[in-house]
Amino acid sequence: MKEKIEEIRKSAKEKIDKIQNLQELQDLKVKLLGKKSELSELLKGLGELAKEERPKIGSLVNETRQEIEQKILEAEDVLKEKAMNQKLEKEKIDITAPSTKMRRGSKHPLNRVIEEIQDIFVSMGYDVVDGPELETDEFCFERLNLPKGHPARDMQDSFYITDEYLLRTQTSSVQARTMLANKEKTPIRMICTGKTYRREDDATHSHQFNQVEGLVVDYKDKNTSLADLKGTLEIFMKRMLGPNTELRFRPSYFPFTEPSYEVDVTCFKCGGKGCPLCKKTGWIELLGSGMVHPKVLEMNGYDPEKYSGFAFGTGIDRLAMFKYGITDMRYLYTNDVRFLSQFDRQDKD
Ligand code: DAH
Repeated sequence: MKEKIEEIRKSAKEKIDKIQNLQELQDLKVKLLGKKSELSELLKGLGELAKEERPKIGSLVNETRQEIEQKILEAEDVLKEKAMNQKLEKEKIDITAPSTKMRRGSKHPLNRVIEEIQDIFVSMGYDVVDGPELETDEFCFERLNLPKGHPARDMQDSFYITDEYLLRTQTSSVQARTMLANKEKTPIRMICTGKTYRREDDATHSHQFNQVEGLVVDYKDKNTSLADLKGTLEIFMKRMLGPNTELRFRPSYFPFTEPSYEVDVTCFKCGGKGCPLCKKTGWIELLGSGMVHPKVLEMNGYDPEKYSGFAFGTGIDRLAMFKYGITDMRYLYTNDVRFLSQFDRQDKD
């Protein structure tokens, strides 16, 4: 019997030494010490031994069992450490390896210009308001003194959806909306930036473009005059295009302003000396403006006897082109990353 136990002990130790991983060790533990193991069988059969033999053999079996248990625990420690080392090895980060390049996006030049315009006007106390791109004929034209059949409607080729609905051709529609929405008829100082649509498509025009509209309405005795309009546009343009920018006001016609002016700025390229871009004139036509037509005030709930105001509008795409020296408007809409990323560091932000 003693030999048998000795044999179990020896073979158990050999088996444990050969084990390579924790799962195998677990399986072996069950085999060596479980209910069906040879040692357990031996204990069960103690009763068949002679009485004086029983305690000796019993304690020998138990000693062996403890010894095997101890050996398994030791093996377990070794294997656990090995597993941990393998894991650490596998998950090691090589901090000297070259990193995968993360492509960083950059703000679109149009959005830069829009934000800059908003900042300039907010600093002068204007509200930034919004209006729908799908507009009614009423707000886009009629309430701006452009009744149906008015010849000036031909200036803007429109995308009509139905007889009454169209894609707005100008952000001027927001003038009427703002005046009408202001129930108390308090003074207005607002700009609106947004998309506009016209049926044209060539190198300098796109069927979709952006405009900014400005409207100031105040009590007549506050003297909201042409001088205020000039001063405002001068601040706007100088801050957008540089302090040396000069403005030139030319009488013009817009149905919603009277008098109306087109505003030219000194050519950003030649500084006013004359070059191919400005067709040797030194000036570039940029804005439309004027004093709000009394009819427009009246149609939108402001008594022209009590109120006066001025309005202006310009194309943001053209402004962005001048500011950044972009020669083809289509670059603004093709979303070529090589083009867009050039504007990454051109501003302070
Ligand atoms: N809405 C005009 C256009 O799209 C621009 C314009 C001209 C806006 C005169 C105005 C203005 O507010 O007073 O051509």
